[in-house]
Amino acid sequence: MSQIYASFKSIGAYVPEKVLSNADLEKMVDTTDEWIVKRTGISERRIAAEDEYTSDMAAKACELAIERSGVAKEDIDLVVCATVTPDYFNMPSTACLISDKLGIRDVQAFDISAACSGFVYLLSVAKAFVESGMKKNVLVVGAEKFSSIVDYTDRGTCILFGDGAGAAMICATTNKEEAFVDLHASADGSYADFLVTPAPGCVNPVSQRVIDEGLQYVQMKGNETFKLAVKTLTKDVKEILEKNEINSDDIPHFIPHQANYRIIKAVGDSLKMKEEQVVLTVGKYGNTSAASIPMAINDIWESGRLKEGELMLLDTFGGGLTWASALLPFAGKSK
Ligand code: UT7
Repeated sequence: MSQIYASFKSIGAYVPEKVLSNADLEKMVDTTDEWIVKRTGISERRIAAEDEYTSDMAAKACELAIERSGVAKEDIDLVVCATVTPDYFNMPSTACLISDKLGIRDVQAFDISAACSGFVYLLSVAKAFVESGMKKNVLVVGAEKFSSIVDYTDRGTCILFGDGAGAAMICATTNKEEAFVDLHASADGSYADFLVTPAPGCVNPVSQRVIDEGLQYVQMKGNETFKLAVKTLTKDVKEILEKNEINSDDIPHFIPHQANYRIIKAVGDSLKMKEEQVVLTVGKYGNTSAASIPMAINDIWESGRLKEGELMLLDTFGGGLTWASALLPFAGKSK
C-alpha cells in the first residue's frame, strides 16, 4: 500500500465589513494614529457586527475553502476549529455550530485552544488524522470575534486586535510532492500569565466581581510578550529550516503570525528574509489571533501571489504560551 500524506488543498477567509480605524480609536482611548502605526504597523482592523458570531465568520471562510478544494461536503470527515472566542464557553463547540451552518451532519467536530498558534496547531491535528489513515478530508478553521473579549478602554490591547476567519481543506494524497514537509508545535505554560482572559472559567466563574473587575477581558503583558515572541519565532524558524536543509532564500512565502509589524520585521531581518518573501496583512486587519495566518494565506492566494506547488513557511506565537512553525507546499490550484 502506498504511503498517505496530508496536503494543503485550498484556502478561504472572511473579514467583517466594519472597519475600526486608528482615528476611531483616538476618540476612544488616549492614543494617536502615529503611535499605533509606529509601534505596531496597524492602521485599521475589522470588527464583527453585534449579531455576527465566530461560527458565522468561520462558516463563510469554510464555504470558500470547500468550494476551492473541489471536495464534496459529504466527503468531509472532520471539522476542527481553533478559537479563543468561541460562540459559547464551552458547549457546544464552535466546530459543531460551523458544521451545522455548512449543512455537514454526522461528522466528527471539535475545537482546540492554542490562542494565536491555533491554526498551525490545527494543521498538526489534521496531519496526524490524515497520515494515520483515520480521516481523508479535514476542514480546519481559525476564527475569532476578538472584539468580544477586548476592553476598549485599555489602550495596551484594544489597538492590536481584530475579528475575522480563515479556513483550509487538508486532504489525503499519495503524491509526496504535495505533502507537508515538516511541522513543529510546542508550549511553555510557565508563561501562562503573559496573555490571559481570567473569566469566565472555573477560577473565576461569572459573578458581580468578574464584571466589576473586568476579568472577562484579555490581559496582556505586551512588552514581555513582544520580546519573547521575537526570540521564539526566530529560533523556531531557524530550527525547522536547518532540520530540513532549506535556505531562507528558497522560501517564496514566509507567513508569520500578524501580531505586530515590529515583531515580523525583527524576525524577518534576523532570518535575512527579503521584503518580497514576507507576507504582511497586520496593517489592515490587526492581530486576529488564530485567524491571522489563514487570512494572510488567503490574501496572497486571492491576489495571485501564491501559486500551486509553492512552499509556505508558517510561524506563530501566542497565549499559553504556545508557538508553532510549519513548512509545506500549497497543493491547491493557483487563482
Ligand atoms: O498575538 C499574541 C501575541 N501578542 C503580541 O505579540 C503582542 C506583543 N506586544 C506588542 O505588540 C507591544 O508590546 C504593544 C504594541 C502592545 C505595546 O508596545 P510597546 O512598544 O511594547 O510599548 P510598552 O508597553 O513598552 O509601553 C511604552 C509606552 C508606555 O508609556 P510610558 O510608561 O513609557 O509613559 C505605555 O503606557 O507606551 C504607552 N502606550 C501607549 N501610548 C499610546 C501603550 N499603549 C499605548 C497606546 N498609545 N495605544
